[in-house]
Amino acid sequence: MGVIYYNGEFHDDAVSLDYNDRGYQFGDGVYEVVRVYEGRLFTAREHFERLVRSAGEIKMSAPKSVDDYIQICEQLVDRNDLVNGNIYIQLTRGVAARNHAFPVPATEPVTLMYTYTAERPLKGMQNGVKTISTEDIRWLRCDIKSLNLLANVLNKEKAVQAGAVEAIQIRDGVVTEGASSNVYRVKDGAIYTHPADNLILNGITRRVIKECSQELAIPFHEETFGHDDLLTSDEVFISSTTLEITPVNQIDDQVIGEPGPIVKKLQQAFETKIK
Ligand code: PDD
Repeated sequence: MGVIYYNGEFHDDAVSLDYNDRGYQFGDGVYEVVRVYEGRLFTAREHFERLVRSAGEIKMSAPKSVDDYIQICEQLVDRNDLVNGNIYIQLTRGVAARNHAFPVPATEPVTLMYTYTAERPLKGMQNGVKTISTEDIRWLRCDIKSLNLLANVLNKEKAVQAGAVEAIQIRDGVVTEGASSNVYRVKDGAIYTHPADNLILNGITRRVIKECSQELAIPFHEETFGHDDLLTSDEVFISSTTLEITPVNQIDDQVIGEPGPIVKKLQQAFETKIK
């Protein structure tokens, strides 16, 4: 397991979690996953700004500043000799006897951070992956990176049972996002993705992709599109911190085809940013 950061201290290999932690009992907390390339944190500031925002949206205040979090992550990477991998960060509302309402007096948030080695998902990035489409059964605050992931977990498992990598979620006929990724379609040379409102997570990779499209002069439209539009796309791809930019070659029984020119251009542009 390596060195873990837990509530202000670094621990070797293990920490004891309290069974009354509200993260454990209610999923009452928020999280982030930060990518590390060749020992360097990628877009860490954006991730921690989002963590602080997510905490605020559930009326919790993050105990440390963005700069402090970055510094702790750098120490964790160092102490674990992490080269390529991820850092998992979670904040819960704290420890209190089980009661749905917030504890009074307010509890101190519990912070946990650990690292793990993970190679880049190059095979899927090169060949594309199979996906399924399924109903988006989540709540209406998908912009918060909350620990409550049951709907995402159920949809992801449905994908895995179908031999697929991701579940593309559909709400009222509209494509929102994947169980753990953002979704894009390409039509006539332009990229379309769901607007960053309450129905999706505003992905950090999505923001990098937007920047890459601007640099490449590829039109990037934050507009909703339907399930039918998705199936008639020239290209479809998904993105996340762990999947990077992964082309989709199949949705249910519908074959989309080999990775296309736009996704390849974006992957090249992304590559220059992680170096
Ligand atoms: N998930 N949408 C959802 C629902 C997600 O869970 C994620 C990321 C994304 C992409 O966000 P980003 O580009 O910031 O990673 C979109 C992480 C990786 C996870 O839960 O493991």
